[in-house]
Amino acid sequence: MKKFEFCVFKPYIPEFRNLYMKKKLTNSEELFERRKNAVANGVGVFNTATVHKAKGAIITDVDGRELIDFSGGIGVVNAGHCPEPVVEAIREQAGKYLHTSFNVVTYEPYIDLCEQLIEILPHGDKTKVMLVSTGAEAVENAIKIARQATKRSAILCFTDAYHGRTMMAMTLTSKISYKYDCGPYAPEIYRLPFPNFYRYRRNRDMDEFVKDELKRLHESALNLVDVKNVAAIIIEPIQGEGGFNPAPQKYLEGLRQFCDQHGIMLIMDEVQSGFCRTGHWASWQHYGVQPDISTYAKSLGSGLPIAAVVGKAEVMDAAAIGSIGGTYIGSPICCVAASATIQYMKDINLNEKAVKVGNIIRSRLQNLMKQHAEIGDVRGIGAMIAIEFVNDGDPSQPNSEICPQIVKGCVENGLIVLSAGTYKNVLRILSPLVITEEQLEKGLSILESEIEKAIQNI
Ligand SMILES: Cc1ncc(COP(=O)(O)O)c(C=O)c1O
Repeated sequence: MKKFEFCVFKPYIPEFRNLYMKKKLTNSEELFERRKNAVANGVGVFNTATVHKAKGAIITDVDGRELIDFSGGIGVVNAGHCPEPVVEAIREQAGKYLHTSFNVVTYEPYIDLCEQLIEILPHGDKTKVMLVSTGAEAVENAIKIARQATKRSAILCFTDAYHGRTMMAMTLTSKISYKYDCGPYAPEIYRLPFPNFYRYRRNRDMDEFVKDELKRLHESALNLVDVKNVAAIIIEPIQGEGGFNPAPQKYLEGLRQFCDQHGIMLIMDEVQSGFCRTGHWASWQHYGVQPDISTYAKSLGSGLPIAAVVGKAEVMDAAAIGSIGGTYIGSPICCVAASATIQYMKDINLNEKAVKVGNIIRSRLQNLMKQHAEIGDVRGIGAMIAIEFVNDGDPSQPNSEICPQIVKGCVENGLIVLSAGTYKNVLRILSPLVITEEQLEKGLSILESEIEKAIQNI
């Protein structure tokens, strides 16, 4: 039990005193009581928030309390909660047909969505797409496709990576607390250190750091795995669960060259960083480094389970018929939700909004950083911004005590935030990008005040 600290219910059990004195529980407390009795403990719980309805950047809980949402359902509602055109598209499709299985009876919403994805996320001269339901499933399929395309088996991944919880995705995921006692894991997976400049630069500048990390990458061909057997390298250009760590520009360029040199597929996992979060459809567009295959989910569907594997046509077509697919791949309801989401993102220019939202967050948090040695770093691209807590301003000394206090204090004061990072010492902001300036400033004020309190408490 101790290992699963993030899912221990203790803090959320209504105080014993309340039960003893028969104090009436709030609706939220009652819901948590029912959750505790009916839902397996292993299903993680981040905080005590509940929801009755949600719109834009606001969640109204089952007691009628309004909360500003800085978590966006873990990066799923970049276009906001319940965008009207998306809800309308779902309603309309529900009145036509819900399911035929795309393998069995072809439907237009699937093809429409693939065409839209090809237009905004071109991979080389000709691009093709396959749809699935979750980010982990997209990763599973990307690996299968890369293996079939290269006829090789080994996969290189990174420390602090997160790729999901199915067996292959969990094997690729780095953080041990996500995978206690779940092995044996998939074979032929090899891990390289992620080039985390903030944590590991010591006294090197960016160029020296990248040179050393690329040397390590090239050495992997000598000391980690035979490069002639490597099918793919999978990387999050900006790590999500790992703490919003951006890969250095030159490292990503060097990685591309290494893959080209050895005939390796470069897979970029954009499940968290995609769909406007960084001010682009995918963060690789920010870097200008093109993958062979890339994966998307989360904000693609505004909350409906839809994910995509996008890649160079010749690579995507290397998968044998029947080797990729499933009953629910690209459900028509999810396809129309995703197509409407993309159209809505274009209509309101969400990529531009992301940059504005990000600038506001960055400047307020950077000001706060100047006042506290415990805030080691404020970083991010577009609106994918995080704040890292350390002891004495030292990047090698993560402070794991501060974030849980902030998350708890924030929810009590009307703001939902999420932590991240291998040491749980990073706060990440994933607010809907349609958040109004007033809501954003108010949320940031709550956050700043809880950060100040938590720092004083340690
Ligand atoms: C980068 C990345 N890849 C894959 C996944 C897994 O996605 P899902 O939870 O939809 O399976 C996540 C989820 O957080 C993610 O952040």
